[in-house]
Amino acid sequence: MLFFDKFFNPKSVAVVGASRTQGKLGYTILENLKYSFKGPIYPINPNAEEILGLKSYPSLIEVEEPIDLAIIVVPAEMTKKVIEEGIKKKISAFVIISSGFSEIGEKERQLELKKLSETKKIRIIGPNCIGIYKKDLDMIFLPKKRLKRPPEGFISFITQSGAFGSILLDIMANEGVGISKFISIGNKVDVDEIDLMNYLEKDLSTRCIAIYLESVRDGAEFVKTAKRITQNKPIVAFKAGKTEKGKEAVVSHTGSLAGPSEIYSAAFKQAGIIEAKLSEEIFDFSKVLANQPVLKDNKIAVVTDGGGFGIVAADTAINLGLELPALDSSSVKILKTFLPPYASFNNPIDITGDATVERYQKTLETVLKDKNISGVVCIALMQLPTLDDSIIDVIKDGKVFGKPITVCSAGSDFVLERNRKLEMYGIPVYPTPERAVKAMSVLYEYGKILKREETVKKKK
Ligand code: COA
Repeated sequence: MLFFDKFFNPKSVAVVGASRTQGKLGYTILENLKYSFKGPIYPINPNAEEILGLKSYPSLIEVEEPIDLAIIVVPAEMTKKVIEEGIKKKISAFVIISSGFSEIGEKERQLELKKLSETKKIRIIGPNCIGIYKKDLDMIFLPKKRLKRPPEGFISFITQSGAFGSILLDIMANEGVGISKFISIGNKVDVDEIDLMNYLEKDLSTRCIAIYLESVRDGAEFVKTAKRITQNKPIVAFKAGKTEKGKEAVVSHTGSLAGPSEIYSAAFKQAGIIEAKLSEEIFDFSKVLANQPVLKDNKIAVVTDGGGFGIVAADTAINLGLELPALDSSSVKILKTFLPPYASFNNPIDITGDATVERYQKTLETVLKDKNISGVVCIALMQLPTLDDSIIDVIKDGKVFGKPITVCSAGSDFVLERNRKLEMYGIPVYPTPERAVKAMSVLYEYGKILKREETVKKKK
């Protein structure tokens, strides 16, 4: 068993500061844990005998059974004592949710935790974080009624900002995009992004690592680790705190120092990390990288039922260095057998506003088989009266050709319901043509990173 399994697959969990009071963080954490975690849970609270139907204990020491993981949600000044009790109880994995450390200038208090982690062979996630979320280990202090949880999937997300991370979970849930593991690291007194990247590298259910960063403790080690991992698994990173004002805010957020943004961009590039320059791109890029094969060269086709969206997609593709080559003449011949004369057979291929599912199915099949084309951006205006729900299966079945597909499908409730189903099949959907094309270009970028590494290996 790897040490970090204590964090991600504990056999038993204690919540220190579990509260009887609805609305307090320690109440919601216990509640969410109770409905997700299948092993024994030990609420610790000297003022309670039972919380949410679970027997409560005055301290960690009083629990007779072994405890793998302790989640701490008591005021900051009490955390050191709790950890010391935990050490006596032979607990070695701690998550500290509490705020009130370096981020408010309480450096000494944080240093005490650091010393404990270094001398006592324990590992600490946090403080000042929201901890871990996975389907069977939900310690998020935001109630489910207010923040939806995503389905299981292949993205693992490391975040220095709890708020940013938790909102992303809500958005992912709303769009039906799956998560494997979510880890909020806060002030990272001990466990940092490098430790977690190392763990996630070997985690079979993680196919893409997404990181929201404000600072990196050891730049050289970060680049070395990422360089190795990106040869097998994509990493997407977003760096916050790029301006002077932003950097000042980082200090008061997680108490760490943010370096110059150009250095980060250069380091990401060197490490083969895909940089998300806009916050939404963390999500846009990681869902395509987790679910689609790479784009082997820059030749794509756009298939659309809306002319305008097709043009925007074409413009974006060209600006990003992608090409929209003409289809092979044999493909055009096939398209002409079933598309109406008013369709456009050039790339973008416009199958027009009366497109049927059958038209999509035959067009996608023809284009995905075409040797001139390595990936397809499929634009589907689901609102068309000629399209029924079998469009979802038709797009999903395009996966059998082994070429990447991204979808642009924009709209409100009716559309979102269908988009969610596509996402569940691993087809990434975007609300604008620009974002769908950009996601495709990221698959090309990652393909180049893999090739770069292959070339280096061959030279050696
Ligand atoms: N061991 C265990 N539990 C204890 C205790 C002890 N030694 N002493 C007291 N408690 C109990 C309290 O009785 C209380 O339970 P109750 O409501 O049933 O009485 C519970 O622990 C919580 O203690 P309380 O003093 O009420 O604290 P709180 O809930 O108001 O605040 C924190 C505690 C950790 C939530 C707060 O200090 C904090 O840090 N908030 C910010 C968290 C945050 O934003 N994190 C970062 C997110 S990105």
